[in-house]
Amino acid sequence: MKFQFRHYVFLLLICFLTTFVFLLVGELNEGRQGLSTDGHVRGRNITILLWHWPFGRPQSLKGDVCWDNHRISGCHLVDQRSLYSSADLVVFHHRELMTGKEKLPINLPRLGEQKWVWLSLESPDNSGHLKPFSNVFNWTMSYRRDADITVPYGKLLPQEGEGCAENSTKEVVTEEKSLLACWVVSHYNPKHKRSLVFQSLKKSIPVEVYGRWRRRGLAPSNLLPTISRCYFYLAFENSISKDYITEKLWRNAYQAGAVPVVLGPPPEDYKAVAPPNSFIHVEDFTSTEELGNFLHQLQLDKERYARYFAWRHNYKVKLYTDWRERLCSICPHYHSLPAQKMYPDLEAWVRS
Ligand SMILES: *[C@@H]1O[C@H](CO)[C@@H](O)[C@H](O)[C@H]1NC(C)=O
Ligand SMILES: *[C@@H]1O[C@H](CO)[C@@H](O)[C@H](O)[C@H]1NC(C)=O
Ligand SMILES: *[C@@H]1O[C@H](CO)[C@@H](O)[C@H](O)[C@H]1NC(C)=O
Repeated sequence: MKFQFRHYVFLLLICFLTTFVFLLVGELNEGRQGLSTDGHVRGRNITILLWHWPFGRPQSLKGDVCWDNHRISGCHLVDQRSLYSSADLVVFHHRELMTGKEKLPINLPRLGEQKWVWLSLESPDNSGHLKPFSNVFNWTMSYRRDADITVPYGKLLPQEGEGCAENSTKEVVTEEKSLLACWVVSHYNPKHKRSLVFQSLKKSIPVEVYGRWRRRGLAPSNLLPTISRCYFYLAFENSISKDYITEKLWRNAYQAGAVPVVLGPPPEDYKAVAPPNSFIHVEDFTSTEELGNFLHQLQLDKERYARYFAWRHNYKVKLYTDWRERLCSICPHYHSLPAQKMYPDLEAWVRS
């Protein structure tokens, strides 16, 4: 009894200490960025005009969207083209330009410091020809870390104090897991690298396949519970390119509580955004057989397997799915973005 009580006090102490450290770090960060974190404090709102809605699906911009939903002040999102002349930024989503559904208002004058922003979350393979977009854009907005505005598919946020004992490693590990490796695939293309790796890997280990390809589509509410029954999730990107790491990692694997086996950009790109020892990269093995053996052994070694979830003590997954949130995220960085810039050859940048 006495021991348990001391144990409890000790845990509580750790929790308090962690909270304190997080708060302190938060304060320091805020202090460093000073007053330049949004438009508001500089006395004027930043107006962002979205020229057309991505995939033709408009969303409501009623009220002060950035403040109401994301606590970002001084950031005014609009979609009325009549406000063009008062826009600090005009954002163009690439897909509709590429398909010709929308056109650039190329003969409208650019007033003062107005920036035209190229927005795309697609990989280069799915971006078509970009030569027509030379000498047009001032800033890029993409999942790439070297874009002017980086809009990742997801990221990890420090877990603030209160989450301390929640969702711990133990919970994930003791969850019912009955399948070694799982994959969800809708558009199967036998020529994709991921298909070749899958075909070869399934010779050494069983892989449970879901998704439209196998007519085993999963309803959104069923996706994470299904994957949570798997030790490993094949977070294989459909396109292999720099920084192209999608919700296959953030949602399907991390949120479901399966260890991601990743195929995509090189390990360095993953290491830059994901915690060490939280994923298994296909390229770190000389063959799929070696990878299969590794997964097999790891599944049997509960302690070692659990270490792949250690990050969950300190971080939680943040997914980005709302275009408005992505647009709002420009404002806190606005004043540190290059004042003068243009992309003479967007194609070259995209393919670089
Ligand atoms: C900025 O926008 C907010 C919300 O729309 C508005 O209340 C405020 O008056 C604006 N500030 C300036 C300086 O225009
Ligand atoms: C913890 O798990 C619960 C239910 O399993 C979930 O609702 C909650 O979002 C999780 N919290 C974090 C910080 O991941
Ligand atoms: C934005 O790009 C255009 C076209 O490339 C260029 O003429 C203009 O000077 C740039 N504006 C700024 C503020 O960088």
